[in-house]
Amino acid sequence: MSAIDSQLPELPSSVELGMGQGGLAVARVFARAGSAEIYLRGAHVSAWAPTGGSPVIWMSEQSEYAPGVPLRGGVPICFPWFGAHPTDATAPSHGFARLADWRLAEAREAGDDVVLVFVLTDTEATRASAWPHRFEARYTVTVGAQLALSLQVTNLDTAQLSYEEALHTYLAVADIRQTEVSGLEGAPFTDRLTGPRPAESEPVRFDAETDRIYLDSTAATTVTDTATGRQITITKQGSASTVVWNPWIDKAAAMADFGDNEYTGMVCVETCNIRDNAITLAPGAGHEMSVRYSVA
Ligand code: BG6
Repeated sequence: MSAIDSQLPELPSSVELGMGQGGLAVARVFARAGSAEIYLRGAHVSAWAPTGGSPVIWMSEQSEYAPGVPLRGGVPICFPWFGAHPTDATAPSHGFARLADWRLAEAREAGDDVVLVFVLTDTEATRASAWPHRFEARYTVTVGAQLALSLQVTNLDTAQLSYEEALHTYLAVADIRQTEVSGLEGAPFTDRLTGPRPAESEPVRFDAETDRIYLDSTAATTVTDTATGRQITITKQGSASTVVWNPWIDKAAAMADFGDNEYTGMVCVETCNIRDNAITLAPGAGHEMSVRYSVA
């Protein structure tokens, strides 16, 4: 870890940098109001719980922790494209950011919370990729009774650039069959399995593979776990798209890094700017997308 050590900021006693699964560097955060774990690979939040509360973020027991493969669960950062790259079939799903080593640039206490800032900039490899632009991405993670995430991207190029982004959060639920996602009623969506769908008047409920993209969707959402009564509220800014995903039985079984029965314990509600909501930045311009999770 010497290359990482030499670039490290001073850490408060509530932050430890150590070795996580697969020998990957991980920041462990023990704020008074909450605890979390963030892998430097992908600046990937793999755990968060408010103090005295149960884990809110879900990780697969089958996740791989190896070079070139993303972690399964947590909060993958999808950037600078979402899903398969539109023209380059060899480009990694959901972009290169979740596979890259981010730099921990800052760690400080703020009252009962701890704030960490991770930075990713273009490299020779990204400049040779399907998205060759010069950029800086700053990812601020605030750990406390709430979890706040903010991804700020600046165009350092001399030409305009466009990108997609998603904070692809896997939330822990007791039983997906007794889970509801509200806040998206009245919004039309694209079902990635069947195509465009009209708005529904009821909360999203799950009894099959669910993979929905809501564009022009800025509303707060609430995940209600009716088995336990827990509600996770998700409020966001600078995000015009929302994705709701659960792989259900067949897709879970087809994924090597996802346990066959694990689909019952998670739901992804993703804070995004994708498809027609992709962000375009003039040279020197920036955009910030942020999201906050609170539990009741
Ligand atoms: C979701 C997509 O956001 O991510 C799904 O809508 C996809 O279609 C899922 O299967 C997981 O993607 P990946 O690349 O992490 O397996």
